[in-house]
Amino acid sequence: MKNVLITGAAGFIGSNFVRYELEKHADWNIVVYDKLTYAGNLDNLKDVAEKFGGRYRFMQGDIADREAVFGCVKDNGIDLIINFAADSHVDRSLTEPGSFIMTDVYGTYVLLEAAREFNIARFHQISTDEVYGDIEAPGRSTEEDKLHGSSPYSASKAGGDLMCLAYARSFNVPVTITRGTNNIGPFQYPEKVVPVWVTNAIDGLPLPMYGDGRQMRDYQYVLDHCEGIDVVIEKGALGEVYNIGSGIETRNIDLAHAILDLLGKPYSLIQTITDRPGHDRRYAIDNSKARELGWQPGHTFAQALEKTVRWYLENESWWRKIKSGEYLAYYKKQYAGREI
Ligand code: NAD
Ligand code: DAU
Repeated sequence: MKNVLITGAAGFIGSNFVRYELEKHADWNIVVYDKLTYAGNLDNLKDVAEKFGGRYRFMQGDIADREAVFGCVKDNGIDLIINFAADSHVDRSLTEPGSFIMTDVYGTYVLLEAAREFNIARFHQISTDEVYGDIEAPGRSTEEDKLHGSSPYSASKAGGDLMCLAYARSFNVPVTITRGTNNIGPFQYPEKVVPVWVTNAIDGLPLPMYGDGRQMRDYQYVLDHCEGIDVVIEKGALGEVYNIGSGIETRNIDLAHAILDLLGKPYSLIQTITDRPGHDRRYAIDNSKARELGWQPGHTFAQALEKTVRWYLENESWWRKIKSGEYLAYYKKQYAGREI
């Protein structure tokens, strides 16, 4: 059996990844280590705890807490660390950058120290295409590009990546990194654009669109990303970085139209608001290095969005519980008075 520590897996992508891996690898015991910030939600793992109780364990803790992390790695005889834990929302990093630096940079360093101390067989870092900054068409970011974080979030993620590569080179920690594009799918906290827009549209509420809506993102289905991470952990070369994304770019305005079409709602729900400071115009990645390992995206943009919208329609109780709590104050602070 392999003992695998997955941090930040009470959040969106990590919870999907844990479910995916427990199904796929009968020889994995998974310990989820998560601080349970506003974005961590044990409802995301309820079915996992019921189905895989014997091979799944949850521990609440902060990745920046050295003693707790070392204790967890030692007590569970961890072989592999996969780090999803992060403060992950760009807008929040513009108002509260400190916690991003603590988790995304310092927390990553603490995990790397644990990997070094306990001779972990693999440390895999979950990163993002945002570390490249925006790129003009028709260019595509490759793994060799310089890092140009535009927000405190992306700068912190870039710091985490550089620390991983430094630990690989200086201390031979067996590191791999994946840089994923925008994920969509089940269990995404309704602060990211797709769940905000889908849940607002279901309720006939405005879809807040930053600036001219011509910013471009690569929206990939979360399970395609999970598969890509799995392939890199199995076949990726140590010390290497791999981009994971669909390779398909979509403008925000076209995303809004597609969501409203799927839900049969009018385009008049789109509400232009003031732009995000430092907003990156376009992300586009070259995913050929991951493809060379045998991975390929399994969904088109239309398939990914359709599945995602259907999940939010069928799981209203999940998001309504979130949207009725402290979220209301967040939403007001984030959006009130920005209408143009
Ligand atoms: P999320 O915000 O949904 O979940 C983050 C999780 O990390 C939460 O469960 C939270 O409780 C936990 N966490 C936060 N600080 C912690 C700390 N100090 N110690 C322990 N746990 C902590 O995030 P997500 O969207 O699932 O993203 C997961 C990872 O993937 C992040 O590293 C993010 O940078 C990266 N990523 C996200 C996307 C995307 O589109 N969402 C794309 C590419 C990469
Ligand atoms: O590219 C990968 C990154 O994707 C991840 O690293 C981040 O964790 C994740 O949050 C995401 O970052 P983005 O900033 O691209 O995602 P977000 O959903 O916040 O915004 C997507 C686009 O939609 C962006 O151009 C801003 C715009 N937007 C966003 C929100 C929340 C709006 O127009 N209105 C909104 O209300």
